[in-house]
Order: sequence, then C-alpha cells, then structure tokens
Amino acid sequence: MNAAGSTLTTHRDRRIPPFDVARVRRDFPILGQKVHGKPLVYLDNAATTQKPQTVLDAILRYYTQDCSNIHRGVHLLSERATQSYEDSRSRVKRFIHAADEKEIIFVRGTTEAINLVSQSYGRKHVGPGDEVLISAMEHHSNIVPWQLLCQESRATLRIIPMNDRGELLLDAYEKMLGPRTRIVAVTHVSNSLGTVNPVRRMAELAHRWNACVLVDGAQAVQHIMVDVRELDCDFYAFSGHKIYGPTGVGILYGKTKLLEAMPPYQGGGDMISSVTFERTTYNKLPHKFEAGTPNVEAGIALGAAIEYVEALGLDKIADYEHELLAYATEAISKIDGVRIVGTAREKASVLSFVLEGIHPHDVGTILDQEGIAIRTGHHCAQPVMEFFKIPATARASLAFYNTRQEIDALAAGIRKVLEVFR
Ligand SMILES: Cc1ncc(COP(=O)(O)O)c(C=O)c1O
Repeated sequence: MNAAGSTLTTHRDRRIPPFDVARVRRDFPILGQKVHGKPLVYLDNAATTQKPQTVLDAILRYYTQDCSNIHRGVHLLSERATQSYEDSRSRVKRFIHAADEKEIIFVRGTTEAINLVSQSYGRKHVGPGDEVLISAMEHHSNIVPWQLLCQESRATLRIIPMNDRGELLLDAYEKMLGPRTRIVAVTHVSNSLGTVNPVRRMAELAHRWNACVLVDGAQAVQHIMVDVRELDCDFYAFSGHKIYGPTGVGILYGKTKLLEAMPPYQGGGDMISSVTFERTTYNKLPHKFEAGTPNVEAGIALGAAIEYVEALGLDKIADYEHELLAYATEAISKIDGVRIVGTAREKASVLSFVLEGIHPHDVGTILDQEGIAIRTGHHCAQPVMEFFKIPATARASLAFYNTRQEIDALAAGIRKVLEVFR
C-alpha cells in the first residue's frame, strides 16, 4: 500500500497500476485544509465535487485576459472567449461520444436540462391520455418537471418500481411500456442509493414503442464512461459542478433530429436568426436553445474539468472508486447498528446508511466535528425515503481523491456517534 492508501488491485480480471491519490489530491487546493482542527475529509461529492487548480485557473484566465461577451464580438477578446467556449463544447461532445457539436446545449445544470426537454419536447409530444415513465429512485429534478408537464397536458405519470436493494424491476418496466408511452426519464446513477441503472437496455425497450428516453446523468458522467450513441438515449443531462467543474453550467445532449424539431425553450438574444415585430426566425443548433448571455467562464472551465478527468482516465477513476466503495461498504456495514440503504449489485460511489435510533442529522453534526463532511437528509429524493420508510439517510459519496484512510476516519467517526448515543 502506498502513502495515500491505494493498492495494486485486480478488477475485471486485469492488473491495474496504483492510482496515485497523493498526487491527485495536490491538484485540489481546498482539500489541504483543517475543519474544527481536524484534516478535512470531504465525502459529500454527490452534492458537489471540489475543483482542481486547472479549473480555477481557467476561470481566472477568463476574467484576467479574455473577459468579454461571446458569439457577437469582432474584437480579439471576444474571439478568444468564443473560441474557448466552443472548444469546451467540442470537448464535451468527444467526452460523451456525441455525433456533433450541435447536439451539445449549454444549460445551467441537470435541472434546467430536464426542464428544457419537458417544456419543449414534452409539450409538443405529450397529450391527454399519454404516459410519461420515471423511476422510483429519481431526484426531484427528474420528477417535478414531468409532474408539471403531465398536469398541463392531462397525461399520466407512471413510476417504474424497485426492489428492497434499490434495483429497478425490469420486467415490470417492460410491461408498463405501451403505445401511450411518450417519454421515459430515468437516472443513470441514483444519488440517494448509488444504483447504476441498465439505461441502455431500458432505452432499447422504450424505443420498441417509439418512446423517447431521457437519461439523468448527474451522478454518472464523473464515475462511468458515457457513450450516448452506444446507450442510444435521446437526451442525456448532467451538471458541471458534479464533475469537478464550476456551478451554473451543465449540458443537455440531444439527438439532432429531435432537437431540430423542438420549439425553443426560452426567447432572447443569440437564439434568433432574425427578428421583426411580425416574425422571428430561430438560430441553428445548438444556439436555438441558448438564449441570452451564458455563464461564459463556467462553460470554459467545464472544458478544463473534463480535460482533467480525461487526463486521469475514466477507466482508472472507475476502477479506483469501485475498489474504494467496496472497502467503505465493508468497513461501514460491519459496525454494529449500521444499516446500508441501497445494496444494488451495480453501484457507483454512494454509500447511504442509517444508525439505529439516531437521526441522520445528529450523525452529520457529530461527524462534522471530526472534520468529516457528509450529507444528511432526503437528498432531494423524498419518494426513496418513503419507500424505505425512513425520514432521511446519512450519505457518504466518494470521489477519486478520497482515500482508504478517510474511510477509516469515517468508520471511527460513526463509532463515536454510536458511543455518544448509547
Ligand atoms: C441524480 C440527480 N439528478 C439531478 C440533480 C440536479 O442537479 P443540479 O442541481 O446540478 O441541477 C442532482 C443533484 O444532486 C442529482 O443527483
């Protein structure tokens, strides 16, 4: 084992070199600090991830060298900023293996991406008696926009069930699909349970009924190599801040054919081709869906974040995190009084748990005194809490900069919580 706690490990039958966590951690200035006099153990990565220096540098570079509005300027600063912004779009395109840059729409985050699809595609294609399918483990961002659409269009929202491990029931899903199914919207990785859903198979089944498939990738792109063409999803959404980039920027991927046929989501500058009081024509993709001045520095810095992740290698990240999750699951589940919530066979980087007779908020507060940052609450997934008949969970969510020593600190912290309450 090296200083940072990683070992040479076998995964998927091949030897992989140790992941140099100590080196990686040095790229994240925030991680070096102490909290309440203890070294920070940041295990709230599903809420937001920390940012490497290259991302911070990209933001600073924009404001100190290139600050200007994009797409409309003829001066050098605007040309440079536009170039960086569009380079970022190309990087995202390559990263998720989209066919074309015009399929990559900059939005504020996953929430806005889903609202865009529900309001633009949804309003056009969903009518009275139609059905929209979502799963039992969705984040509120992938529930409420569809409720709004269904209320407005008098359609029915149906829920794909899951079992006690937190795995979707594919047989039940297959039976729910039919000629009235217009949209299936499902999370790739659950933020509250960590389940990795078989979205490729789900898309294949939905397409047999010509239903359109949106995948919420907010908790997936930072952990799993995503190929939107291989998944054959129609839309894929994710947030920059969960993949080591800044807040205020996210991506909606959509297939060209669908995006071309969709009405604009918002009106304003940049999304038009020409405007008269009588008639407006719209800009071509992707700008048709990008009204107004965007979050320029965030878009540019998202490109830097993805470049950073690509340099580490998503396969190496996935292997390392997989091993760390297994280590954490074992360490935490053997503590007397702990129950893990979400025990799916396929999981990524999320460890939700409850301690018998202790409210998760108390767990979080005591762990904070130990310098350990976790999240407690319903994680914007209240129906999941209802399913497991609990008010909340404590959730440790992992990133590639976390170490085994940090997991040991978490386990020691949990033991301390149990001592306080016994
Ligand atoms: C699965 C999932 N979907 C959607 C969202 C919403 O993301 P954002 O708040 O960045 O729009 C989150 C955020 O936690 C999430 O975990």
